[in-house]
Amino acid sequence: MARKFRAQTLGEFIVKQQNAFSYATGDLTRLLTHIGIASRIVNREVNMAGLVDILGETGKENIQGETVKKLDVFANEQFKAILGSSIEVCGLATEEEKDVVSFESDLSKQGKYIVCMDPLDGSSNIDVNVSIGTIFSIYHRISETGNPSVEEDFLQAGIKQVAAGYVLYGSSTMLVYTTGLGVTGFTLDPSIGEYFLSHYQIITPDPGRIYSINEGNYINFPMGVKKYIKYCQEDDPSTNRPYSSRYIGSLVSDFHRNLLKGGIYIYPETTSHPEGKLRLTYECNPIAFLAEQAGGMATDGQGNRILEIPPESIHQRVPFFVGSCEMVKQVEYFMKNNP
Ligand code: AHG
Ligand code: MN
Ligand code: MN
Repeated sequence: MARKFRAQTLGEFIVKQQNAFSYATGDLTRLLTHIGIASRIVNREVNMAGLVDILGETGKENIQGETVKKLDVFANEQFKAILGSSIEVCGLATEEEKDVVSFESDLSKQGKYIVCMDPLDGSSNIDVNVSIGTIFSIYHRISETGNPSVEEDFLQAGIKQVAAGYVLYGSSTMLVYTTGLGVTGFTLDPSIGEYFLSHYQIITPDPGRIYSINEGNYINFPMGVKKYIKYCQEDDPSTNRPYSSRYIGSLVSDFHRNLLKGGIYIYPETTSHPEGKLRLTYECNPIAFLAEQAGGMATDGQGNRILEIPPESIHQRVPFFVGSCEMVKQVEYFMKNNP
């Protein structure tokens, strides 16, 4: 089948971007390449998940009281092993581990980057063959190189991200990332195990006409969100309403669809999750960086830009409103006027 662009691999593209910076040393290029490699290993397991004894739960809970699936553990171990043996990364914060993981080898301690990661996003969809993902976020360390990473390295506001992205294990596997020069998407050709450029300079349609929220929690939503949902459902052809409701339950998949088609994803504070459910450092910040780079926006529903919220802990949760600017501004309006 004909490709839309000259066949360009992820590796070629990253190197080309690096060449735009005369001061680049190649460390970020290598780091992104390593993430791509680890994602292909996870992808192989995801594809085999129905065939091998990897489905199901480990019987353990993570530090946030959530059931840990075998594939969560597998993905976490893969990324940890590859990042730990790379010489660019001195530490990792992951959803699956209470404390930050500081890589102790002499080479790792020289690494200038730290990574925050949700190794497997959308765990509840693993066993039912529905799309899942990996989310990553990369920062320069603030501690001195040559030493182990410290917690402060991981508590930087999202605005400081050097790069961020996700891998979507869907009907095809895609890697989408940004280094602050727009958002680019690559699709895995499974026959040769290589990512090829497939989506160049993604700009999200604005306004979109998809809203994504777990409406089963409706009764517990803030009044502003309830009003916004009713607004989405109203019949007004002049503003393309009613909008369509779409919710997969994997942030990566829901965001990816809305990124390409135009829409809004909301996970507000609820009675069971008064701080929101999604985690600031390894879910919301990377997705917010991508959203902004694609022309969209991301807030906490109270007028605060996600990327400017200073994290206080690595597993901190935050209400999350992300998508086309016009749609996020509209729900913010309802939130402000219905306290
Ligand atoms: P994770 O599997 O990494 O814990 O993340 C699950 C998150 C996110 O992917 C998704 O958008 C959200 O939880 C779904 O939550 P609900 O089932 O409460 O809608
Ligand atoms: Mn997640
Ligand atoms: Mn996860």
